[in-house]
Amino acid sequence: MTKVIGLTGGIATGKSTVSDYFKKIGFPIVDADKIAHEILQKKSVQKALIKQFGAEIITGKHVDRKKLGSIVFKNENALNVLNEIVQPKIRRMILKQLKHFKRNNRVVVLDAPILLEQGYQNDVDFLMVVAVDRVTEISRLKQRDSLSNVEAEERINAQMSLNDKKKLADIVIDNSGTIADTELQVLKWLENNLLVR
Ligand SMILES: Nc1ncnc2c1ncn2[C@@H]1O[C@H](COP(=O)(O)OP(=O)(O)O)[C@@H](O)[C@H]1O
Ligand SMILES: [Mg+2]
Repeated sequence: MTKVIGLTGGIATGKSTVSDYFKKIGFPIVDADKIAHEILQKKSVQKALIKQFGAEIITGKHVDRKKLGSIVFKNENALNVLNEIVQPKIRRMILKQLKHFKRNNRVVVLDAPILLEQGYQNDVDFLMVVAVDRVTEISRLKQRDSLSNVEAEERINAQMSLNDKKKLADIVIDNSGTIADTELQVLKWLENNLLVR
């Protein structure tokens, strides 16, 4: 039976870093962020978003994710409205890709920042949470996305707390050290749990 590893964590705690490692060792990845990007390209979705948030959230033919982010991460109600528009479509695509990869692979990874918030627990066999301490999370997020302290805090606070995610995890990967340290933790877990024959 194919096993699905659900990969999640906080913002900028290192999900993509771990996901890249899984890719490197040959596991197929269902990338929820990439799917969300694709869903935001759909005309019908853009129309619904303009109706709710105004035409200024579109730049050219694309949803301006930074603008949309600055609206919804300040306002829980707006975030709920956005989720009602996009999450059912994202879910359909995620389940479709999981089903596709499960046919020909022993392990599939679902990389989803909001895996727990959107209730994908039952779609995965193992829940892996990538964690760092709060200071490191804020500093990596600020640097990667050129955000101010306040913006970084807002984005982190808009999500379920990392501590709550850790409590639900089957595996917590500590990404406060080097990337090599992190990869080794992942490999050790795989060897002990999934790669045994
Ligand atoms: N162990 C690490 N040491 C130093 N920088 C890291 C480490 N892991 C990730 N980063 C950097 O921190 C930022 C966030 O990591 P990323 O994997 O993109 O997080 P996520 O996908 O969870 O948002 C990126 O700029 C990444 O290059
Ligand atoms: Mg990422």
